[in-house]
Amino acid sequence: MATTTSPPCFLLLLICLVFLFLALCAISGGGASSDADLLLAFRSSVEDPTKGLSDWSPSAAAHVCNWTGVTCSAPSVSAASKSGSGLVTSLDLRSLNLSGEISPALCQLAGLSHINLAGNSFNQPIPLHFSQCTKLQTLNLSSNLLWGTLPDQMTLLSSLTLLDLGRNRIEGPIPLGLGSLWKLQVLNLGSNLFSGALHPSVFANLTELTHLDLSQNPTLSSELPRDLGKLEKLQKVLMQSSGLHGDIPQSLLGLHNLEVLDLSQNNLSGRIPLGFGLGLAKLLCLDLSQNKLSGSFPIDICYGKVLSELSLHTNAFTGVLPESLGKCSSLARLQLQNSGFSGNFPPGLWSLPKLTIIRAENNWFSGVIPDSIRTAARLEQVQVDNNSFTGRIPLGLGALGSLYKFSASLNGFYGDLPDNFCDSPVMSIVNLAHNSLSGPIPAPRNCRKLVSLSLAANHFTGAIPSALAQLPVLTYIDLSNNHLTGEIPQGLQNLKLALFNVSFNQLSGKVPSSLISGLPASFLQGNSGLCGPGLPNPCEEVKQKRRNVGLICALISFAFAVGVMLLAVGLRARHRSSLMQPWGPLPGSWKCVFYYPLKITEDDLQAGLNERNCVGRGAFGEVYVIGLPGGDTVAVKKLIYSTSLSQRSLRTEVKTLAKARHKNVAKLLGFCYSEGFILLVYEFLPKGSLGDAVARSDFSFEWPRRLRIALGAAQALSYLHKDYVPKLLHRNVKSTNILLDVNFEPKVTDFALDRVVGEASYKLSVASELGACCYMAPERGYSKKATEKMDVYSFGVVLLELITGRPAEQAESRDSLDVVKWVRRKINTTNGGFQILDPKISNSSQQEMLAALDLALRCTSVMPEKRPTMLEVVRSLQSLEPIVDLSPVLFGELPESSER
Ligand SMILES: *[C@@H]1O[C@H](CO)[C@@H](O)[C@H](O)[C@H]1NC(C)=O
Ligand SMILES: *[C@@H]1O[C@H](CO)[C@@H](O)[C@H](O)[C@H]1NC(C)=O
Ligand SMILES: *[C@@H]1O[C@H](CO)[C@@H](O)[C@H](O)[C@H]1NC(C)=O
Ligand SMILES: *[C@@H]1O[C@H](CO)[C@@H](O)[C@H](O)[C@H]1NC(C)=O
Ligand SMILES: *[C@@H]1O[C@H](CO)[C@@H](O)[C@H](O)[C@H]1NC(C)=O
Ligand SMILES: *[C@@H]1O[C@H](CO)[C@@H](O)[C@H](O)[C@H]1NC(C)=O
Ligand SMILES: *[C@@H]1O[C@H](CO)[C@@H](O)[C@H](O)[C@H]1NC(C)=O
Repeated sequence: MATTTSPPCFLLLLICLVFLFLALCAISGGGASSDADLLLAFRSSVEDPTKGLSDWSPSAAAHVCNWTGVTCSAPSVSAASKSGSGLVTSLDLRSLNLSGEISPALCQLAGLSHINLAGNSFNQPIPLHFSQCTKLQTLNLSSNLLWGTLPDQMTLLSSLTLLDLGRNRIEGPIPLGLGSLWKLQVLNLGSNLFSGALHPSVFANLTELTHLDLSQNPTLSSELPRDLGKLEKLQKVLMQSSGLHGDIPQSLLGLHNLEVLDLSQNNLSGRIPLGFGLGLAKLLCLDLSQNKLSGSFPIDICYGKVLSELSLHTNAFTGVLPESLGKCSSLARLQLQNSGFSGNFPPGLWSLPKLTIIRAENNWFSGVIPDSIRTAARLEQVQVDNNSFTGRIPLGLGALGSLYKFSASLNGFYGDLPDNFCDSPVMSIVNLAHNSLSGPIPAPRNCRKLVSLSLAANHFTGAIPSALAQLPVLTYIDLSNNHLTGEIPQGLQNLKLALFNVSFNQLSGKVPSSLISGLPASFLQGNSGLCGPGLPNPCEEVKQKRRNVGLICALISFAFAVGVMLLAVGLRARHRSSLMQPWGPLPGSWKCVFYYPLKITEDDLQAGLNERNCVGRGAFGEVYVIGLPGGDTVAVKKLIYSTSLSQRSLRTEVKTLAKARHKNVAKLLGFCYSEGFILLVYEFLPKGSLGDAVARSDFSFEWPRRLRIALGAAQALSYLHKDYVPKLLHRNVKSTNILLDVNFEPKVTDFALDRVVGEASYKLSVASELGACCYMAPERGYSKKATEKMDVYSFGVVLLELITGRPAEQAESRDSLDVVKWVRRKINTTNGGFQILDPKISNSSQQEMLAALDLALRCTSVMPEKRPTMLEVVRSLQSLEPIVDLSPVLFGELPESSER
């Protein structure tokens, strides 16, 4: 073949070889680069706005071990590094606000075993090259903006003991291959967007695991993996809000070392397995709240006497709590509210010395609060409203010095309210409304912090204690619905009350005037003896003018200034100058097959294949535009023909392509072949390709035209995928393969060329093509077989080009970003898609564009199974069209002709 190449091409080949050689050197000669060089290479691809890495400089390369975040092994005599210091073993660059690209250079650091890049702004998929960091023991990438799936390649890091990917935006399934990371002790995948079901054995091999965090992945939908119970070293399991359903497996009983188990905010149902807790001797914290668990709670959860936090609230239990809970001497926080429990509240619970919070409101608990509550000296908060508690309020309650909230409304408490009820120096909320308490309201003795006092709907008698007026921060007083008598103390005027409700008592006398002017009369109603201006009974002595007194409501309005940051998306596209290749005349004899009547001879073709007519060079060869003697113009694509295909099957394959007829598929008029070459003859489309258009700096198609291009291309692909026999994959969808006719109707070209040139050379050609990478679905790197979903991905990229007005790759900008990354980053860091839309398009199309953006994002999902089919894409795009294709028939000439 070299004999046919002319000198410039040979030169090109030579240059390529030199580059290849250099690249190989860079890879294989890793040892040749010093650690400092590698770190500098890492730094060069990173944005460092806070200059945290400013001491990483070539001039200080000798002191690499002193650089920020770098730790080295102890220098050894035989150390390879020139400076005599050791190898870089650890890189700790947490919270430096770094962004940019994580460079593969990291993994060439021969001694590197710890990486911590947590708390930065890296906004990219998990770099595949981490799989080459085989010595890595800990990898902490938490709290970044990483997206994409958890790549299978990560499972090659078999030395990892710690993997923290928490607080990112990683999606997709949790790979079963995780089992090969069998040394893992800490695995944090929490606060991500993982989805799908967990394989029952996904963690089965991780027998060293002590910490597992899958929490806050509400997009998962899974049962609890059964094999979890085999991981005997587990100490901490966080799976709150992780889309779990089904029951709690019996196997969890085997986790003898478990200290923390949080399964809250899931959809777990069923009964708690019998004996649950018996094995959990070290359990400190159990949170099963906000599920749908039912049945009773039949077990001694406090087996090891170390449990300090038990949260079962918001469930559908029906039974009683075991008495044994009352012996849970370490318990500090107990949350049982809204969970359906009934029966006797275990009395022992009231006197646990470490208890700080008891919440049990909205259940059907019965029982009394014993005086021994005084031994629960650390109690801060008791909330047992809406139960069936009875008995007296114990004196012991007043002995609790830390209690700030005691709320026990809607129960059956009776008897006097002890006069020490507010002795706690921090007491601020007392709510005993809706009980059967009686006797006088005791004058509070201490109570400097009391804010709210509700004793409504009881049987209190006597006068309102005037001592209430001495409480400096008292703001809410509800004494309504009692049997109180006497006058309202004048002193209460001095309080800054927000609520004062004494309605439905037997109070009498003159209401302090500021209590009237500041409050609606309804707070006083039902007290026939009260008098004052504005009341039904104005006091006799004072004949004031009746005034309408309105409640002065303090309305606080917040003004939210909504700043909309509009980021102008500068688009500087550049023509890519076509590579002109002068070619000599073609050797050998030619055979031609035409599917359309064409006035063309082999000689015409031969003559046309010259430098002047060459308009570009694609992945597979040059493209020529040839004017034929008859006046027609054709586009000719010259392919290098691998001899693997017999001439006969070549004819068959080309015919297959030629027979694909669709208004949005470029016509293949015929083809010629000779030794080594194939010429594919296509209809010529004068407007060039969509890719050319997008790359122009003045690209300004209006949205309806863009939508029609997208729809046409989608229909063509759907036709190839579904309607055409045999089904064809395009395999090279990109905007430069979408040609535009005079009416800007798109025509897809260059499809299924693999069938002509053969798989091997097809792959080679595509891989060598500049810029094609942006269109390739991520799985194309590792999956052998081409799929429809890969075409869908590529189409999604084209759609993004149409929506953003950005070419798929902007080569000249400093951070050369493909449009998918650009869009994902924008979405990750801003709210809503507005900043992504091409600013050159008028706002009136915004809704349609946002809908198209949503579609494009689904098409470019990293997970093939999340991408729609081309048929679904067609339907979605059709639904965005205001007027369907019928319109020309109905309305004659379309307004868009003005664009022509
Ligand atoms: C590293 O820094 C320490 C203190 O900052 C200094 O004493 C030491 O000389 C430095 N080592 C080198 C090799 O620069
Ligand atoms: C971190 O970087 C972001 C942009 O990348 C910037 O908005 C933010 O202010 C930076 N924070 C600090 C502490 O430098
Ligand atoms: C990862 O690093 C962050 C920031 O330093 C830290 O808060 C977190 O605990 C680390 N993860 C693990 C599992 O140690
Ligand atoms: C499970 O762990 C063992 C080491 O304990 C390892 O050799 C094996 O490859 C792992 N199996 C899987 C399926 O990952
Ligand atoms: C729980 O399951 C029900 C249906 O079974 C579903 O409607 C609901 O969204 C689920 N809730 C959560 C938090 O997953
Ligand atoms: C009292 O608790 C029951 C049972 O949880 C609930 O249905 C009811 O709405 C609650 N009543 C009030 C007033 O909160
Ligand atoms: C005041 O108490 C009465 C009787 O309990 C009640 O009907 C009314 O809603 C209460 N007003 C306010 C504002 O709480």
